[in-house]
Amino acid sequence: MCGIVAYIGNKQALPILINGLRRLEYRGYDSAGIAVFDDGKPCTIKAVGKIDNLAEKLKTQNFDSTFGIAHTRWATHGSVTESNAHPHADCTGKIILAHNGIIENYRELKEKLGANHVYKSETDSEVLAHLIETYYTGDLRKAVLEALARVRGTYGLVVMHADRPGQLVVARMGSPLVVGIGEEEYFVASDATPMLAYTKKVIFLEDGEVADISRTQLHTVNLKDHNVTKHVEEIEWDEAQAQKQGFPHFMLKEIFDQPNVVQDAIRGRYKLEDGTAHLGGLNMSDEQMRSIKRIILIACGTASYAGIVGKYMFERLAGIPTEVDVASEFRYRDPIIDNQTLVFGISQSGETADTLAALKEAKRKGAFVRGIVNVVGSTIARETDGGTYIHAGPELAVASTKAYTNMVAVLLLYALQFGRLNKLSIATGQRLLQALVEIPEKMKSILSQSDKIKELAEKYKNSRDMLYLGRGINFPVALEGSLKLKEISYIHSEAYPGGEMKHGAIALLSPEFPVMAIMTKNQLYDKMRSNVEEIKARKAPIILVATEGDDKAIELAQDVIYVPPTMELLEPLLNTLPLQLFAYHTAVALGRDVDRPRNLAKSVTVE
Ligand code: F6R
Repeated sequence: MCGIVAYIGNKQALPILINGLRRLEYRGYDSAGIAVFDDGKPCTIKAVGKIDNLAEKLKTQNFDSTFGIAHTRWATHGSVTESNAHPHADCTGKIILAHNGIIENYRELKEKLGANHVYKSETDSEVLAHLIETYYTGDLRKAVLEALARVRGTYGLVVMHADRPGQLVVARMGSPLVVGIGEEEYFVASDATPMLAYTKKVIFLEDGEVADISRTQLHTVNLKDHNVTKHVEEIEWDEAQAQKQGFPHFMLKEIFDQPNVVQDAIRGRYKLEDGTAHLGGLNMSDEQMRSIKRIILIACGTASYAGIVGKYMFERLAGIPTEVDVASEFRYRDPIIDNQTLVFGISQSGETADTLAALKEAKRKGAFVRGIVNVVGSTIARETDGGTYIHAGPELAVASTKAYTNMVAVLLLYALQFGRLNKLSIATGQRLLQALVEIPEKMKSILSQSDKIKELAEKYKNSRDMLYLGRGINFPVALEGSLKLKEISYIHSEAYPGGEMKHGAIALLSPEFPVMAIMTKNQLYDKMRSNVEEIKARKAPIILVATEGDDKAIELAQDVIYVPPTMELLEPLLNTLPLQLFAYHTAVALGRDVDRPRNLAKSVTVE
């Protein structure tokens, strides 16, 4: 996720662009840049770090430009450097663009463009500038459309041409773009906040729409250059609401981001026909991968629960013994590790001190050490010898939601990749990938039950304690649901494997002690059902997460949340969502500070 701002009109562009970037800084800020016109010539300035660094550089410049584009970057391809910061240009330096999203086939496109093009960055976005260059014969919109016809991936895109300082071409596919309409002026941005001080009139571009903008005209077409009529809307949001895209909290926005971002985690990383994944960043030969006899997943908190899901996946699909270690324990227990051990550090922030220290220890002991990380260029990403970014975009709520989902998706791809090198059949690989592709739509159907889950939260919000139960791959789901509830609502909760409850925790149960049980239709369904019967007999209220069509579930429970069926190994990608929503709505109902719960920090950089 990055932020884009563009302006065309009669005002000085620079302050509008810089202030706009500041408002989009929540979308990521590892580097930033602007391109404006100075004496009719395009001029691009970039800086690494916060927008303030860019502003500092611009202090000494005196641009008299009423037209320009700007970008704040959240790295996905290419490290955090000035040359990788946007805007990017083609070989002539005349086509200048800012891009948000991922050009999935950029390597292929680069190859086709051939050796005549000179690239200044390692980004996928720059390839797009060169692609547009090859189609440009005086009509910028046409050239952009020709280029986009060859692109696979996502984009929020603004393009300008040095010979056409009165034209801006803007396109959207998967990354939001809003166009603000003023008096003989237009604003473009990733959300409405940069333009709210100037206009409340906006149009929201939809996927596959392209806007061709001059100072006095806005013309919208689809990717086939057919006219599209857009409805002008009046924005009522204030700045904070606009940043949250209308959601009351970042956490809820991030929960609802999941159907989109899970696609970013898997896009371009699997081959359906071969039933396998290819995560190139692993930096291991097939031979090295086959030599691995043991996998250790090291993480903290939510990331460690994603790791437990990964353990089930690696053992089931790849047949490799896998352990999950809480990072703060691993580093002090003198773990047995050798050069046939592969250690993954899993971390959203990539800065968690315990995880980092544990990975250093594993490296010292000779293991292959890799990262599964969200923040590009973070310490864990740099200190490991390879790995994979989960592409969840900036996660701002302290409680992790979409990063967990994307960690699970990437772990599944790794398990498939290792599995296919070992004994996993192509048919099973294909079935899993097919099921994975269907996950985003199924997630949407769960999210559409948010209001119903809110009613449940209202009903149970005054509980002092809660128990979460799951079996098999749904045990880590129970752990994650329980952690979400306690960290944002401050209700005490525990999570147990369903079959373990009778060895102690069952003593806690009473009519005042609600139990959230995950009882979806999988190989452990009958066993879990028996555990739920045991709870029912103790008269504890039961909320079930059950598979659609399981009409008998309601006979066992006070309340049931239904989720669509999927393959068992993929269930955590769905079953966690109702638990996130339950925790969220409970915390809101109790008036908690949902995005900033007490005593917690987003990135734990101390031991
Ligand atoms: C819980 C949560 C934490 C983090 C943990 C690890 O919602 O966010 O438990 O998962 O602090 O953080 P990262 O993933 O940044 O290493």
